[in-house]
Amino acid sequence: MDNYKAINWNSINDEIDKATWEKLTEQFWLDTRIPLSNDLHDWRSLDDDHKWVVGHVFGGLTLLDTLQSQDGMAALRKDVITPHETAVLNNIQFMESVHAKSYSSIFSTLNTPDEIEEIFKWSDSEEFLQNKAKKIYTLYHDDGNPLKKKISSVFLETFLFYSGFFTPLWYLGHNKLPNVAEIIKLILRDESVHGTYIGYKFQIAFNKLGSNEQQDLKDWMYNFLYELYENEEKYTHLLYDKVGWTDNVLTFIRYNANKALMNLGQDPMFADTHEDVDPIVMNGISTSTANHDFFSQVGNGYRLGEVEAMNNDDYNIGK
Ligand SMILES: [Fe+2]
Ligand SMILES: [Fe+2]
Repeated sequence: MDNYKAINWNSINDEIDKATWEKLTEQFWLDTRIPLSNDLHDWRSLDDDHKWVVGHVFGGLTLLDTLQSQDGMAALRKDVITPHETAVLNNIQFMESVHAKSYSSIFSTLNTPDEIEEIFKWSDSEEFLQNKAKKIYTLYHDDGNPLKKKISSVFLETFLFYSGFFTPLWYLGHNKLPNVAEIIKLILRDESVHGTYIGYKFQIAFNKLGSNEQQDLKDWMYNFLYELYENEEKYTHLLYDKVGWTDNVLTFIRYNANKALMNLGQDPMFADTHEDVDPIVMNGISTSTANHDFFSQVGNGYRLGEVEAMNNDDYNIGK
C-alpha cells in the first residue's frame, strides 16, 4: 500500500472543511443538559390525539437519525476528497447519534414504558416511514453512485425531517413544550449545517460533470424528490389527519424540499415560499433559544461554546 498519511490541519485543501468543523464543534450540545421535565405540565394538558402525534412524530425522527448515524455518514466517508472532510463527517456521525438518543430522552420524560414500546414497534414497521428509510438506505449502499448518495443525504437532512419538526415548532409557536422544542431546534440547527455542507460537496463534484451527465442526474434528482414527496404526503396524512394539521405540514415540507434543492445548487420544484408556511411555525423557528445559558448548569472543566440565539438567517443557511 501507499504510505499512510497523518491529517494536517495546518495545510487545508478546502477552507469550507475547516469552517464547518469550527461551526459544528462550537454548537456541540447534549440532550442531557435540557430540563425536559419542565414540559410535563404542558404535556398533561394535551388530549390523546395530540399526544399520539407528538410521540409518533418523534418515533419517525428517531428512525431517520438512526439511519444517518449508522449508515449515512459511513457511506459518504467512502467518497471524501480531503482528510478534513472525513473529520467533519466523523463529527456529524456522532451528532446524529446524539440526535437519535435525544428522542429517547423525550420519551422517557413524557411517555410510559408501554407507550415507548408501542412507538418503537410503530417506527420499526410503519409502511410510509419504512419506505423512505429503505429508499435512502439503498442509495447509501450503492457505491457506484457517490453523487446519488449525497443527494439522498441532503434530501434526508433538509426535507424528510420536516414533517416531524413541524410538531414541536408548532407547539413552541404556541408557547408549549419549550424544552422539547429546544432539543428540536438544536437538532434543526445541526441538520441545517449538515445539509449545506453535503450540498456544497455535491456541487463541487457536480460542476465537474459534462452537461449530459449533469442533465441526467438532474432528471433523476427531481424524479427522486417527487417520489419521496408522494410518500411524504401519505405519511403526513397518516400522522396529522386526526389533528387537522395536514395541509399546513404539506406546505412546510414543500418549502423545505425547495431548500434541499437549493443546497444542491438547483432550482426549486414547488411554488411554496416561506410566506406560505404557517406563521406560527416560522415564529417557532425564529424565537431565540429558550435555555440560552443552559450550559451554565454544567460544572467547571466542561467548557462549551455558548449557544447563540437562532434567527431566520441561521435557518436560511443554504442560501
Ligand atoms: Fe440528525
Ligand atoms: Fe444531520
